[in-house]
Amino acid sequence: MLVNATAMLKAAEKGHYAVGAFNTNNLEWASAILDAAEELQSPVIIQCSAGAAKWQTSYKVVADLVKGLVEDKGITVPVALHLDHGTYEDVFKCIEAGFTSVMYDGSHEASFDINLEHTAELVKLAHSKGISIEAEVGGIGGTEDGITAKGELADPAQCKAIADLGVDFLACGIGNIHGIYPENWEGLSFDQLKAIKEAVGDLPLVLHGGTGIPVDQIQKAISLGICKINVNTDLQLVFAEAIRKYIEAGKDLDGKGYDPRKLLKGGREAITARTKELIEEFGSTGKG
Ligand code: G3H
Ligand code: ZN
Repeated sequence: MLVNATAMLKAAEKGHYAVGAFNTNNLEWASAILDAAEELQSPVIIQCSAGAAKWQTSYKVVADLVKGLVEDKGITVPVALHLDHGTYEDVFKCIEAGFTSVMYDGSHEASFDINLEHTAELVKLAHSKGISIEAEVGGIGGTEDGITAKGELADPAQCKAIADLGVDFLACGIGNIHGIYPENWEGLSFDQLKAIKEAVGDLPLVLHGGTGIPVDQIQKAISLGICKINVNTDLQLVFAEAIRKYIEAGKDLDGKGYDPRKLLKGGREAITARTKELIEEFGSTGKG
């Protein structure tokens, strides 16, 4: 059923596992993620960026689609529909559209004070509607949705200031990067994560840029307080590879095939398979 993300992440924090937050790009994507979560009886967060919402027309279309899928597929596990990397304005649009959770990404604002001020206002608004809210401190490097940013380690004192506003979970820069990690990536900064956790107590922490982080680093991050792990590129890679293989193998009637359901089927199945692997890795199987 469609819920906000507060209870599932509080349970994850207590139970020392993480809930996967998977970006959706279309109907097949959302349906494939839901199939994986339902099969493993895991809570799940389906999240949507501004770019992916535009591709699907609007936040309202995405909200109505995911709500309909959850209902008509008979999904029994908790599902949160979450705005990913929202601007101040996006948050209002998503609350209006029927999202159950939002991220206000204030890390790109001109100053931390603006991040603080907007977050305080949006926490009150979201909570007045029973919606969970994520904030961000420090920058997540790399490229996401066409936006390239420099990574910046989150300052524990700033994390505490944002946490004190009552956010439900907090994204922090700990050396994580959106997209494909470079060969010379130095790994997650666990010292920074420990200091942040020390500062914010039992507030669930969020790891963005979940694609390509070695499993041992994922497990260590979870043990240190990461409760939500965002993944987008990984699923895009498996989707593209499955469809490419199908066409290159001539399975589309040697280039004459045109049934979209046949062309997309392999990609959809690849998303479900990979999402299940990640749910197992994050430890939320059976926690639905
Ligand atoms: O907000 C979305 C995630 O941080 C996606 O990161 O594409 O590197 O998996 P990723
Ligand atoms: Zn992100």
